[in-house]
Amino acid sequence: MDKKYKIITYGCQMNLHESEKMAGMLQQLGYTPTETIEDADLILFNTCCIRENAENHAFGNIGALKQMKKKNPNLIIAVGGCMMQEKGKAETLKEKFPFIDVMFGTLNLEELGALIREKLAGKKRVVRIREKEGEIVEFDGAYRTSYPNAWVNIMYGCNNFCSYCIVPYVRGRERSRKPENIVAEVKRLVAEGYKEITLLGQNVNSYGMDGLGVSFAELLDMIASIEGKFRLRFMTSHPKDFNEDVVKVMQKHRKIMRLVHLPVQSGSNDILKAMNRRYTREKYLAEVEMLRSYFPDAELTTDIIVGFPGETEEDYLLTEDLVKKADFASAFTFIYSKRQGTKAAEMENQIPEDVQKDRIMRLVELVNSLTRAKSEKYIGKEVEILCEGYDEKKGLYLGRDEYGRMGYFASDRDEVGNFVRLKITKANGISLYGELLSSENE
Ligand code: SAH
Ligand code: SF4
Ligand code: F3S
Repeated sequence: MDKKYKIITYGCQMNLHESEKMAGMLQQLGYTPTETIEDADLILFNTCCIRENAENHAFGNIGALKQMKKKNPNLIIAVGGCMMQEKGKAETLKEKFPFIDVMFGTLNLEELGALIREKLAGKKRVVRIREKEGEIVEFDGAYRTSYPNAWVNIMYGCNNFCSYCIVPYVRGRERSRKPENIVAEVKRLVAEGYKEITLLGQNVNSYGMDGLGVSFAELLDMIASIEGKFRLRFMTSHPKDFNEDVVKVMQKHRKIMRLVHLPVQSGSNDILKAMNRRYTREKYLAEVEMLRSYFPDAELTTDIIVGFPGETEEDYLLTEDLVKKADFASAFTFIYSKRQGTKAAEMENQIPEDVQKDRIMRLVELVNSLTRAKSEKYIGKEVEILCEGYDEKKGLYLGRDEYGRMGYFASDRDEVGNFVRLKITKANGISLYGELLSSENE
């Protein structure tokens, strides 16, 4: 009988794509995907530990499988991802959930197939976690589920050690993939029909700085020169080394989306310093200005943390002020979460929860009002959307334009993967609604 797997993913795009790789590895073992947990012979959790609530979610959901495992002892439960690389976490999980069969980390992802085979061969529990990163292992068997977009890693790890962040501890140091491997992968994806390529790295601007001799701007130029109709975007840029070279390459190629995700984290220089971000609000705003001097309507998105240790009301208001000045299209806003082992966890002046909550509510309100005002301006305009899916609830197709704005529209045939032209008729928060003018397949 055919065996089925279900992967439950937490965290960022990096993890989403790694789940696609894990899925590919499971399929090589003969497993096929299922959407329903109850049908699965193997359930795999790809965990995240960026904030405490990400961990709590995973803990809750893994714990809930205890009964299922009791009923069906043949069910394999595997846990991988960032949480497994955290000091002491694997031990905690082992004790708390003795029914987990396989444990592995982000630094030995490629071993998943071998570990599952060991389990199937009769081993009670297989735990293998690497402490230090090794050479990059290329794997081209990912089972992709994000068509028409395809994720492509350009680098792994992070060297920045922002004082609040756990990523450098669980992902190891920066390693860049060889440009020829990246270019070959993108060529293959474009030939297979993918219409949007998203380059992934914790800090794409430091691509190649580990001695490859190719900069991020050069890599971007090489990839954007690949023939075929597709869009190119990249994340995440770090303001400490986002530069004009990259923007010049954007200008050279229409394929590169007019959208930059540039996490600012805070608008206060004192807090940026305590966060070890290595730029000032002035430098950040100068970069925004530089970008908009090339593309006046370029859209900018960001990440912001409120309630970092020592953040005063004045610091917070500087963040509000920067948000207004940078005129973000949207922002991911987070309450600071204390992570064991990071510098910020040791800092005095941790901010009380009620103050954090009050600040995040005010910030979300501000960001939403800016987004709404921005969206209104698109009414009456024509945009080109790459259709990426169908929203069952709304009964509408959805996709994004080259500025990353979400647009919904009706059509009586399958438009997923098509470039379509819309006339925007309505705006609602971050989303635009439009009338279909034409579709590339007509
Ligand atoms: N490498 C990227 C983002 C990685 S994590 C970058 O440097 O921007 C994504 C976002 O999570 C971060 O931008 C930050 O805003 C948020 N984040 C990271 N650690 C956090 C913490 N301890 N508490 C709250 N938010 C955090
Ligand atoms: Fe974390 Fe900073 Fe690295 Fe981003 S750049 S992953 S926030 S340490
Ligand atoms: Fe991503 Fe979470 Fe790991 S944000 S890198 S999955 S800790």
